[in-house]
Amino acid sequence: MRLLVTGGAGFIGSNFIRYWLTTHPDDQVINFDALTYAGNLENLRDIEDNPNYEFVKGNICDRDAVDAVMSRVDTVVHFAAESHVDRSISDPMPFIKTNVEGTFVLLESALKHSISRFHHISTDEVFGALPLDSKRKFTDDTKYDPHSPYSASKAASDHLVRAYHDTYGLPVTISNCSNNFGPYHFPEKLIPLAITNILEGKKVPVYGDGLYVRDWLYVKDHCTAIDAILTNGKIGRTYLVGGLTEDIPNIEVIRRILRIMGKGEEMIEYVKDRPGHDRRYAIDWTTIKRELNWKPAYSFDQALQETIHWFESNRQWWERIKSGAYREYYQNQYSVTE
Ligand code: NAD
Ligand code: TYD
Repeated sequence: MRLLVTGGAGFIGSNFIRYWLTTHPDDQVINFDALTYAGNLENLRDIEDNPNYEFVKGNICDRDAVDAVMSRVDTVVHFAAESHVDRSISDPMPFIKTNVEGTFVLLESALKHSISRFHHISTDEVFGALPLDSKRKFTDDTKYDPHSPYSASKAASDHLVRAYHDTYGLPVTISNCSNNFGPYHFPEKLIPLAITNILEGKKVPVYGDGLYVRDWLYVKDHCTAIDAILTNGKIGRTYLVGGLTEDIPNIEVIRRILRIMGKGEEMIEYVKDRPGHDRRYAIDWTTIKRELNWKPAYSFDQALQETIHWFESNRQWWERIKSGAYREYYQNQYSVTE
């Protein structure tokens, strides 16, 4: 296969490229990424000399640049996106540009170059929120009901991808996955922010009452799910991908991290809630298990331990991110002075 991976310098994309070149060593991968604040080539330092890997800097909204790389591949795995809900609340425009317009440009180009598979990476956030006091999960039949500019822009991109299949016959697949975590996770999201704050001796900011629930998926399990879909997935299908957590509220996630790192509750700081904060996400991934024989390999606690260990061993990686422009974002977001 000749793969075009968009957004391969980000958190999940870089884990996926590493996974793919290890498990499919004869395939070729082009990583096409604009290197926004979230894109970091240090995520791929260990594979940059692999002869089957190539990095091309470019924006998915740029038709000519997209056409140039699209003409050299047969398969697309589309990760590139603006991905952080909090940033979408303070500045939604880049989300519309990249997530909607960028996906459109890729679809047009994929059609033009007769791409044999276009796999679109999406999120469970398109389904809105579930109530806390229920056992319901997002299923294949759940209607879209996005609440943040981020999830609305991802929902729009999903609809476009399906439209290109239904209207023009583009061979697409989509996956809507839950919250990923693991190595190379940008430290503005809950788990890496908590781990790195604790390592720096800073408190962990918990939004609102801390009783919000996410479905946590280890990024390595996400990579095997994408592999299963690329290899055996049915064209035109959408697969829901989730982890092994059973309704663990954010505050409990933080407590587990604190326990593993040998710290106490005094490291928790309740802060102002996020506007429009979705209460609970939970994914029913029985379809991908039944049809493609995929299931997560890591328990939440096992994956959390591995992740904490990775952040402890890769201090330089995240310390560089947490200096500079990131510091300004942190101060605005949490209204704190360091
Ligand atoms: P990320 O923010 O870490 O990485 C995004 C990457 O896309 C970065 O490398 C960035 O430079 C690149 N990019 C952004 N705009 C671009 C543009 N216009 N052109 C080219 N490249 C551009 O994101 P992530 O957490 O790795 O998420 C990857 C995908 O998975 C996204 O589509 C996201 O919506 C989806 N997703 C993420 C999660 C999660 O928990 N992180 C959960 C569900 C779905
Ligand atoms: P986040 O990692 O931003 O992912 P998403 O918004 O895509 O689910 O947030 C995960 C959960 O953690 C969400 O309920 C918001 C909460 N949260 C905090 O409580 N404190 C924080 O500092 C952050 C970044 C998130």
